[in-house]
Amino acid sequence: MSDDYIHGFSPEEQARLTRMQDILNHRELEQLDLRGVSSILDVGAGLGQMTRALARAAGPGTRVVGIERDERQRAEAMRQAREAGEDALMELRPGDATDLPLTDDERKSFDLVHARFLLEHVTHPEQVVREMVSAARPGGRVVLFDDDHDLLRLWPGCPGVEQAWRAYWESYADHGCDPLVGRRLAALLSAAGCATVRTTAVFYGATIGEPLFPLVVDNLRGVLAGAADALDAAGRLPRADLESELAELDAWRSQPGATLWYSLPLAEGIVPK
Ligand SMILES: C[S@@+](CC[C@H](N)C(=O)[O-])C[C@H]1O[C@@H](n2cnc3c(N)ncnc32)[C@H](O)[C@@H]1O
Repeated sequence: MSDDYIHGFSPEEQARLTRMQDILNHRELEQLDLRGVSSILDVGAGLGQMTRALARAAGPGTRVVGIERDERQRAEAMRQAREAGEDALMELRPGDATDLPLTDDERKSFDLVHARFLLEHVTHPEQVVREMVSAARPGGRVVLFDDDHDLLRLWPGCPGVEQAWRAYWESYADHGCDPLVGRRLAALLSAAGCATVRTTAVFYGATIGEPLFPLVVDNLRGVLAGAADALDAAGRLPRADLESELAELDAWRSQPGATLWYSLPLAEGIVPK
């Protein structure tokens, strides 16, 4: 298990993740059929925005439990939930995804077990997925949504930024984590015993002039800038190089036709009856 959560817990990082929720939540919800779902477990709930979005989408009366191991994330998640008047929508529980804090009655009981952007941060995704499968009821569903960092494309090409991005995601290996885990989500579900598995991807990206464009470019910039100290300390990318690559990104974003493409793999498995 990695104790070094690569994104850190700074207010800037929490604000970046919060902005990304606006982009991603409804795109992901479009992929999920929540009809008839009356209990949801969200593993690695982070700031809880998607946990609450799942609760809202599933409707009143749905029991929603989030599991989050980090106290700072839980505190901010509950602050945001209270601010939105939605703290009753979910129960946020401390605990680790490799050994879910569930009662015997809760095991094999959830209609939907979900994890987003979790598996890329753990050293044993197989174990996490097995735990998730053991939390779902027979016939219930397990949904995994995670990064394959190699799916980023920029047009026109921007070699310095592409190099910095690669240095960033290759650094996941320093923590024993897999930055390309998204491509094996379906395989993980099958290996954990799910019967039927489907896979798709959620696209987000934009071209210059679209309202989303500044947000997605700022997000890329924020991810790279946020990793500057760690990349420098690990000897993967000197800070001065990263700064010139960020300047390259700043120039790139006003080029005619500038376009950022990114896709996020999603897989859904059904637990055998
Ligand atoms: C990138 S955030 C994603 C949060 C949320 N799922 C979302 O999509 O907005 C990953 C979260 O997983 C938590 N996490 C990492 N490893 C964990 C583990 N083994 N057990 C429980 N939570 C974990 C981190 O503390 C962090 O809050």
